[in-house]
Amino acid sequence: MRTQVGIIGAGPAGLLLSRLLALRGIDTVVLENRSREYVEARIRAGILEQHTVDTLADAGVGDRLQREGLEHHGIYLQYPGTRHKLSFPELCGRTVWVYGQTEVVKDLIAAQLDGGPPLLFDVSDVLPEDVDTDSPRIRFTDADGVPQVLECDVIAGTDGFHGVSRPVVAGGTQGKLWERTYPYAWLGILADVAPSTDELIYAWHPDGFALHSMRSPSVSRLYLQVDPAEKIEEWSDDRIWTALADRFALDGWELHTGPITEKSVLPMRSFVSAPMRRGRLFLAGDAAHIVPPTGAKGLNLAVADVTLLASALVRLLREKQTDLADSYSDRALARVWRCTHFSWWMTSMLHRSGDDFDAELQLSQLRRVCGSESAARELAENYTGLPLDLSP
Ligand code: APR
Ligand code: PHB
Repeated sequence: MRTQVGIIGAGPAGLLLSRLLALRGIDTVVLENRSREYVEARIRAGILEQHTVDTLADAGVGDRLQREGLEHHGIYLQYPGTRHKLSFPELCGRTVWVYGQTEVVKDLIAAQLDGGPPLLFDVSDVLPEDVDTDSPRIRFTDADGVPQVLECDVIAGTDGFHGVSRPVVAGGTQGKLWERTYPYAWLGILADVAPSTDELIYAWHPDGFALHSMRSPSVSRLYLQVDPAEKIEEWSDDRIWTALADRFALDGWELHTGPITEKSVLPMRSFVSAPMRRGRLFLAGDAAHIVPPTGAKGLNLAVADVTLLASALVRLLREKQTDLADSYSDRALARVWRCTHFSWWMTSMLHRSGDDFDAELQLSQLRRVCGSESAARELAENYTGLPLDLSP
């Protein structure tokens, strides 16, 4: 087997990269070690920046997003006694969209299987090789158990945090890792109930952070800050709804409850691995970096990475120019660190550490963001998405 770009991992990063390259005449093969059903059932976050929406539309996978996505004009920041709306159009002239990452992945897979480049599910033993040469290859075992070799010009490691690509990059470069784990986790639920709010609510509360999000006019997505060691079995539906109602409590407002269809505990970490390239192996998305979900940046960062990477690979493979490939890692990392800071800042401002001094600093910061246009604008610009290329 031979292709120009071998792509490891069919998450949003790998699937979108394949699509962007196909539109510019570059062949790809995508290798995914899970089944299609598994990949399409994974529940992830759901806020898309305008750049992400535009990129998906330009890639020809924006129709359902246009129909079913919900455009949002701001968020509420809440702390006891106050729920303050930040209006993004007024602060920075932009908006965001609510559309689940799961739906983005379904749309990309449908487009790929409808005459797009090969996408192989259920492969195993995936290994990038000879990445320091101009003819790297990927060894893998196909779904029938037959060993295969995919010869490539370039390999894209879009295989997420637990993938095989990052160790290969780290093994051959003077690289560096940065990691921050947080002493809290999110208990997330999906519920068949209309959202009780027009915009997302990010709530600081003495008992811990809570977030009211949504997926559609009839499905709500809500989160509670919990201890990372928390056992999900100890959270009955009643206990979850009571905690949510307490943390979002506001005079004259009511939280609507309904059947919970999914619940899980999500860990929170920040992680960055640099460089995002070794020879002919390029990393993008969660394979290179993780942000805590408070800033809603994970998917948007993955899309920004592959937008930069697609242009770099077109230039490398069609025009034989190495400049964009050589600067890819630095340009991607400039944005990664900005989003890493924003996600850390939102997380630090909103989660209870249990320390009263921390709490007063957080409340002071929240009052500042809600009371100062320039402080609010800084949040709005970061939340709705900064320009693609932030390199100096
Ligand atoms: N071989 C092939 N595929 C693999 C391997 C492997 N060894 N290891 C992992 N994969 C697959 C995973 O099963 C997954 O489908 O790679 C894919 C990686 O997808 P994601 O984890 O969704 O990562 P990415 O595409 O970078 O998207 C980033 O996902 O985790 C969220 O918050 C994050 O929204 C962000 C987005
Ligand atoms: C979500 O809808 O899942 C969601 C929204 C905003 C976030 C994180 C997750 O900051």
